Amino acid sequence: MGKVIAIDGPAGAGKSTISRLLARKLGYRYLDTGAMYRAITYLALEQGIDIHDTEEIVQLSRNIDLNITPPDENNVSHVFINGRDVTDRLRTKEVDLNVSTVAKNRAVRELMTEMQRNIARSGNIILDGRDIGTRVLPDADFKFFITASLEERARRRWKELKDKGLEVSLAEIEKEIAERDLEDSTREIAPLVKAEDAILIDTSHLSIPEVLDKLLSYIKDEEND
Ligand code: CDP
Repeated sequence: MGKVIAIDGPAGAGKSTISRLLARKLGYRYLDTGAMYRAITYLALEQGIDIHDTEEIVQLSRNIDLNITPPDENNVSHVFINGRDVTDRLRTKEVDLNVSTVAKNRAVRELMTEMQRNIARSGNIILDGRDIGTRVLPDADFKFFITASLEERARRRWKELKDKGLEVSLAEIEKEIAERDLEDSTREIAPLVKAEDAILIDTSHLSIPEVLDKLLSYIKDEEND
């Protein structure tokens, strides 16, 4: 049976970058569960559906044909909704501002959790998100909780957007991330919390290769036991 690795943490901690690199290193598949909530949010906004209309959002989630490809040579996973590549449209400000509302929806979470478990079933996979180690896959072989200070996470997201040519204020990003974290951490269903048995990694002062080495050292230690 292949191994399953759960990586959770708040926005901008670097989960997806690390997960992609780790997946490549181990030859594992990678599933960005945030992209699933983002895809539903994007489609709802596009169709003019009220994000707070629980029933409509559930209906949309039931009918969506969601397909996420493994990372390509540029380390990018492509997200297809009903056969359409929407990858570049999922990390916009509009989606950022609305995704936590969609992610609070109990029925949507049930549908997504079931899909995520099915995808993970055959193992050799890394899943990143908010509730992987606590709810989706509590029996995962490895659980990491990756975080960093709010200032550092905001700075990273700001740089990411800046590199894409977008002019945004650092203060505004910090505020938006803090609000989303609060919403994700305090929601009733599957809130963002560290699983008791997850390994905490604070990446505030670590480079990407350093974080990757840290994760790999835990994985190798365990395998050598
Ligand atoms: O990349 P970033 O950390 O900013 O966000 P993401 O991982 O793409 O997740 C976007 C949003 O989806 C989060 O703020 C959560 O509200 C929601 N989410 C969730 O509820 N459960 C997950 N397993 C993954 C994401």
